[in-house]
Amino acid sequence: MIQVAINGYGTIGKRVADAVSAQPDMEVLGVAKTRPNFEAETAVEKGYPLYAAIEDRLDQFDEAGIEVAGTVDELVEAADIVVDACPSGIGADNKAMYEEYDTPALFQGGEDADVGEVSFNARANYDEAGDADYVRVVSCNTTGLSRLVAPLEEAYGIEKVRATLVRRGGDPGQTGRGPINDILPNPVTLPSHHGPDVNTIFPDLNIDTLGMKVPATLMHTHSINVELESRPDAAEVRELLESQSRTFVVPDHMDIDGAGKLKEYAMDRGRPRADIWENCIWGASITMEDNDLYLFQAIHQESDVVPENVDAIRAVLGTKSAEESVETTNDAMGMGL
Ligand SMILES: NC(=O)c1ccc[n+]([C@@H]2O[C@H](COP(=O)([O-])OP(=O)(O)OC[C@H]3O[C@@H](n4cnc5c(N)ncnc54)[C@H](OP(=O)(O)O)[C@@H]3O)[C@@H](O)[C@H]2O)c1
Repeated sequence: MIQVAINGYGTIGKRVADAVSAQPDMEVLGVAKTRPNFEAETAVEKGYPLYAAIEDRLDQFDEAGIEVAGTVDELVEAADIVVDACPSGIGADNKAMYEEYDTPALFQGGEDADVGEVSFNARANYDEAGDADYVRVVSCNTTGLSRLVAPLEEAYGIEKVRATLVRRGGDPGQTGRGPINDILPNPVTLPSHHGPDVNTIFPDLNIDTLGMKVPATLMHTHSINVELESRPDAAEVRELLESQSRTFVVPDHMDIDGAGKLKEYAMDRGRPRADIWENCIWGASITMEDNDLYLFQAIHQESDVVPENVDAIRAVLGTKSAEESVETTNDAMGMGL
């Protein structure tokens, strides 16, 4: 069993912990937290050994009556691999600790690309992580774009991608984020960081991205135009996207008109935390005009990177092929809507 440490038990870290513990070939060795808040309580309730990320704060856990198994250094030393899911920038600071204990590590998309030797998406470049000890699992939006670009590029070739990303202002728990009542070009300059980030996965892809930020917490929505090298019809493209294992092409009859109903559907399907791990592409939006493909997709920012982290663990440790890993991850998590 692969022993996985999770350093940073917030939005992404707690989801990765649950996904890891659902896998047949890995287990959660422990999770590290800086303070004894509600997430520390639930980690202990779930049976995840809890480690103090900051040694000086051990007494805070004692005072709150929360049992701690040790410090993060001990956890990192004992683990086969660390998933760092700390806030942006802290992961890069933690890298020296992972190097000190010679423990491979995954970082998240909020870190600069150079934190890892490889930026990772399971559908696009699983094998590249095989020779790396430090890998960055790209952000939610880049994951969503990469899952779309990979099959289109393989099947039709791509001249150019133009994507406008309408981004949620914050996650539901991020009470300090905004905007509260505004619509922001964000950033106002072009390109947004997403295009260059997609180029960390597809170095030769011609892509321009624009970002906007709106007062929503549910999901991001992408308005996409892909200029293809060939001219498939819309039905053919739809079939290709429906055949992908982490893509949900929303059927027209479902009457799902936005992120709200997508989340409602996820809750009805009993998804943990109403998570949607798949790209949600509106089938009715898939349109071809000459060789231009247009579509809308919604991306659940809190969860689409979670199966990618699970696959990145196996990719770095070399325990399964891309196909085997994706299938194992998908089966264990219950992928597919
Ligand atoms: N949320 C998203 O939409 C999303 C999507 C894709 C990728 N990402 C990326 O994933 C990473 C994590 O984001 P997130 O949204 O999960 O952040 P988050 O909800 O703020 O969770 C990070 C957690 O790390 C803990 N932490 C802070 N300092 C720490 C330290 N020194 N050592 C250990 N733990 C520490 C904090 O919990 P305590 O202080 O309570 O321990 C915090 O809850 C970022 O790179 C982000 O860009 C986020």
